[in-house]
Amino acid sequence: FAFRFEGTPLAGKHVLVTAGPTHEPIDPVRYIANRSSGKQGFAIAAAAAAAGARVTLVAGPVTLATPPGVTRVDVQTAREMADAVRESLPADVAVMTAAVADWRAADMRDQKMKKRSSAPPALRLEENPDILATLGTSDRRPALLIGFAAETEDVVEHAKAKRERKRADWIVANDVSGGVGQSVMGGADNRVHLVMQDGVEDWPEMPKEEVAMKLVERIAVEMETTNG
Ligand code: CTP
Ligand code: CA
Repeated sequence: FAFRFEGTPLAGKHVLVTAGPTHEPIDPVRYIANRSSGKQGFAIAAAAAAAGARVTLVAGPVTLATPPGVTRVDVQTAREMADAVRESLPADVAVMTAAVADWRAADMRDQKMKKRSSAPPALRLEENPDILATLGTSDRRPALLIGFAAETEDVVEHAKAKRERKRADWIVANDVSGGVGQSVMGGADNRVHLVMQDGVEDWPEMPKEEVAMKLVERIAVEMETTNG
């Protein structure tokens, strides 16, 4: 797929993208994770670079090639992702596509847990930092802050609430109902709703690269108008 824009509408802009899952270790051989291929985020990073932006891509563990012209920072956990995002600021635009694990194991074991003959161990969890919400109230908040929301029901309503709660400008909401194996996750296509302050746009189902193109075009228009 070739991303092509008229000129370089994002020249001079720094675009920060998070993508992929995070892995939260339980012990040296086990982890908690979300289902995420990273494809949508990598496509957005590629599209932003093709549009002339300087792009920093903070990526959780995924098996995808770094798009041309993109600076990639690899992380494992949500806390590492939060640190990498903070260290990448300032940015003009942030697009948070990562499926960040909401919880981590409260007591990560140094040694592999053994089955032995005892009952299965209980997993105590604690909450991870919310990277998007932290950016939303930061004094280094990017001028345009975009979150993603994967929902299995009431997609747009949940996305509207998230937009306000996290002080994002836009939320790109997608419906991930449909079950494991036949869903958006890992697939080539995406069907999204762009939730903005003044309304919601329902985009037809299209390849993730086209979602990325369309979103980057919208970002370019928005940056042009906010810059005067
Ligand atoms: N997000 C984040 N840091 C977290 C959790 C989420 O930056 N610890 C970002 C995601 O990258 C995404 C947006 O917040 O852009 C929404 O993520 P989502 O998981 O849908 O939101 P949550 O607030 O975690 O709500 P839920 O209970 O539905 O998981
Ligand atoms: Ca979550």
